[in-house]
Amino acid sequence: MVEKKLEGQTAIVTGGVRGIGLGIARRLASEGCKIVIWDQDISVFDVDRAGFKPIDLQSVDVSNFHSVNEAFAATLQKTQTLQILVNNAGINGPVLPVMDYPEEQWNRVLAVNLNGVFHCTKAVLSTMKKAGYGRIVNVASAAGKEGVPGIAAYAASKHGVIGFTKSLSRELAETGILVNCIAPVMTETDLLKEMTAEHISASKAKIPMGRFLQIPEIAAMVAWIVSPECSFTTGFTFDLSGGRANY
Ligand SMILES: NC(=O)c1ccc[n+]([C@@H]2O[C@H](COP(=O)([O-])OP(=O)(O)OC[C@H]3O[C@@H](n4cnc5c(N)ncnc54)[C@H](O)[C@@H]3O)[C@@H](O)[C@H]2O)c1
Repeated sequence: MVEKKLEGQTAIVTGGVRGIGLGIARRLASEGCKIVIWDQDISVFDVDRAGFKPIDLQSVDVSNFHSVNEAFAATLQKTQTLQILVNNAGINGPVLPVMDYPEEQWNRVLAVNLNGVFHCTKAVLSTMKKAGYGRIVNVASAAGKEGVPGIAAYAASKHGVIGFTKSLSRELAETGILVNCIAPVMTETDLLKEMTAEHISASKAKIPMGRFLQIPEIAAMVAWIVSPECSFTTGFTFDLSGGRANY
């Protein structure tokens, strides 16, 4: 049985309607945490399939600061407090060489993956600061630590998320708010729909364990990082790489 380590706490999980975000939300809920989900498409959320009922479920575009700020005001009305933010919403963008990469798609990938993390974090910080406690986890990627041909926009956005995490963690080091990120390798979710078959098999071939990462493995790591037990690690990138990351 999972220990109720997060009883009495509330977490916002962005992009929590499906995939990795849903897996993280489900795990945190199983540890007693109240869950708020912000996602651009909430129509597909199903309480029975999810196995938990969010305290708040809102349609939010994380790339739009106005949308995020409004959502947070509405969330706070319901929850009063917030201890945990998981910045998970993200898109891959097309797999194309830089010279063929459409400018609009480049801007969209950066807007969702990087600006989105900034927007959601900025919205919640003063509440966490007042409480003198917070745990922020940003979902980066192994592509945030190394170059990957064909997904320069995605890799640049995820390198940005890691840089943002390191910088913010130092700004907040004495506030009780810890900021970390995770760098998972390929995990079978809807994100793969934007990728080519060649890109998927090349990514799998780079994983020494020879298999894709599983969502519950990510969720278990995040559950520890957002818990009070993680008390002396901030600004760190936790790898989930099946042996790929040795740097
Ligand atoms: N799947 C992988 O192989 C993999 C590997 C490493 C990192 N990641 C990262 O994990 C995170 C989750 O990805 P996933 O694989 O579960 O993908 P997914 O496509 O299954 O889920 C992404 C979720 O984010 C939501 N979303 C997208 N744009 C949004 C926006 N502008 N505002 C609010 N919500 C938005 C989607 O509606 C969806 O629910 C992403 O940040 C992704 O980059 C995924």
